[in-house]
Amino acid sequence: MEITNIMEYEAIAKQKLPKMAFDYYASGAEDQWTLAENRNAFSRILFRPRILIDVSKIDMATTVLGFKISMPIMIAPTAMQKMAHPEGEYATARAASAAGTIMTLSSWATSSVEEVASTGPGIRFFQLYVYKDRNVVAQLVRRAERAGFKAIALTVDTPRLGRREADIKNRFTLPPFLTLKNFEGLDLGKMDKADDSGLASYVAGQIDRTLSWKDVEWLQTITKLPILVKGVLTAEDARLSIQSGAAGIIVSNHGARQLDYSPSTIMALEEVVKAAQGRVPVFLDGGVRRGTDVFKALALGASGIFIGRPVVFALASEGEAGVRKILQILREEFELAMALSGCRSLKEITRAHIVADWDLPRNRLAPRL
Ligand code: FNR
Repeated sequence: MEITNIMEYEAIAKQKLPKMAFDYYASGAEDQWTLAENRNAFSRILFRPRILIDVSKIDMATTVLGFKISMPIMIAPTAMQKMAHPEGEYATARAASAAGTIMTLSSWATSSVEEVASTGPGIRFFQLYVYKDRNVVAQLVRRAERAGFKAIALTVDTPRLGRREADIKNRFTLPPFLTLKNFEGLDLGKMDKADDSGLASYVAGQIDRTLSWKDVEWLQTITKLPILVKGVLTAEDARLSIQSGAAGIIVSNHGARQLDYSPSTIMALEEVVKAAQGRVPVFLDGGVRRGTDVFKALALGASGIFIGRPVVFALASEGEAGVRKILQILREEFELAMALSGCRSLKEITRAHIVADWDLPRNRLAPRL
């Protein structure tokens, strides 16, 4: 079957993958309300397209933290990609590089920072989970730096793992032939089977629940890399991120895998953008599946977006070719959305090109509901 949109890979992945792996990739937390909402909220934003503008040339290139990329579409960190495909993170790294965009490597990757770096040139960010043992963190950050990673995406929404019921039912654990490669030498690369989710137990044992704003400052004492705070949903935390020295903010609800009934990221975005006042760039992830979604995020002030699940589903279906394909489809859809709304470059995309249902007086409260 010919793939014509990036969502189609999910059904193929479901057929190909063991249930435990597919459920881990697909699930959200608890009622999965936020999971549906991350998608649904995009449908509450409509276009105000402008016409009769010469759109024969469209420029989608942009700069993120000083790094030039071909489009504002980047790859979010998703853990354990070798469960999806034997080439896992290598395939993702190569596909991102071929598309001229940024890949973020998860702390919990099944390939190490050095291995991913060895796939060739490419602009890559490293996602960091802070372990209780700060020596582990310091070593890992140093390795990422040495391997040429350009920024740290510090995940701040996971002091404990969200309750993902499918993982509990499946007694999710990393298959025995795989390890969390970055931690292999530190004896933290294996995940024991538990009588609930093996990952939830791993997090409870290793991840530092005391993590706080002062640690964002601490991180800057051990690395010169810019820090993106990943997991901001409010104006208050946007301001604190900037005060703590963040170089950027990622509006994220962790793909709806942590706190259920968090707002969709596209509805939280504008509040964060306003609070940031242009001092640092604001990015978004969560539910982006169409070029029109990318446009809407940029119109609400995002400097770029990241995609999570589509990457693992494409990997499971077709490996590197699948990841290349989703990046290509999203790029083409986004270019078309720009052309049909009369925008020739990213800076021409404005708030006036969209209308959100919360712009209407009767829906004033909607973003907070
Ligand atoms: C994630 N996410 C994630 N985030 C993070 O900071 N570190 C990680 O290791 C992971 N791992 C992970 C695995 C899987 C299977 C998923 C689906 C998600 C969250 C991810 O970076 C991102 O925030 C969301 O995936 C974005 O939402 P979409 O695009 O999946 O809707």
